[in-house]
Amino acid sequence: MIKAVEQTYIMVKPDGVQRGLIGEIINRIEQRGLKIVALRMNVIDRGVAMKHYAEHREKPFFSDLISFITSGPSVSLVVEGVNAIKIMRTINGATNSSDAAPGTIRGDFAIDTGRNVVHASDSIESAQKEIALHFSDHELTDYARIDETWVYE
Ligand code: RTP
Ligand code: MG
Repeated sequence: MIKAVEQTYIMVKPDGVQRGLIGEIINRIEQRGLKIVALRMNVIDRGVAMKHYAEHREKPFFSDLISFITSGPSVSLVVEGVNAIKIMRTINGATNSSDAAPGTIRGDFAIDTGRNVVHASDSIESAQKEIALHFSDHELTDYARIDETWVYE
C-alpha cells in the first residue's frame, strides 16, 4: 500500500504558551504517533506573521490577528507522518472554538476563536509555504525513530 508521508506546520500560539499548554499539545502530537522533525520557540516577526496569514489580509480580524500572533513567544513545529496535515487539523478541532468537539485541543482548551491556542496548515500547498516561511532547510531533521512498525503496518 502506498502511504503519503506529509509534513505540516504547527504553532502553539502565544495564548497556548501563556497558559502552559506547550507540553499538553506536544504530548497529543507524539502520542498519536506523529514525528516532530523541527521545533523552535520565538516571537514571530510581524512581516512573517503577515505572510503567514496573507490569505486573511482583507478580513476585519486581520490586524487583531497579526497583533495577537506576534504578542509573545510561540512554539513552531514541523510534524511528519502519513496524512499528517488532515490528522493535525482534526487534533486541533474546528476554527470556531464553540464548534470544536471535546477531545480536540480547541474543544478542550478554547472558548474564543481569537484565542484558539494552536495552528495547523490546512493543505499541502499551505504546509509547504508555511514550513519554508518559518524554518530554514538546516533546521529540518531527518532521523529514524523507534521501530515505526509499531505505528504503521
Ligand atoms: P489557523 O490558521 O490559525 O490554524 O486557524 P484555522 O485554519 O482553523 O482558521 P483560519 O480561517 O485560517 O483563521 C485564522 C485565525 O484567524 C482567527 N480568526 N478570527 N474573529 C473571527 O471571526 C476569526 N476568524 C478567524 C483565528 O485565530 C483563526 O485561528
Ligand atoms: Mg488557517
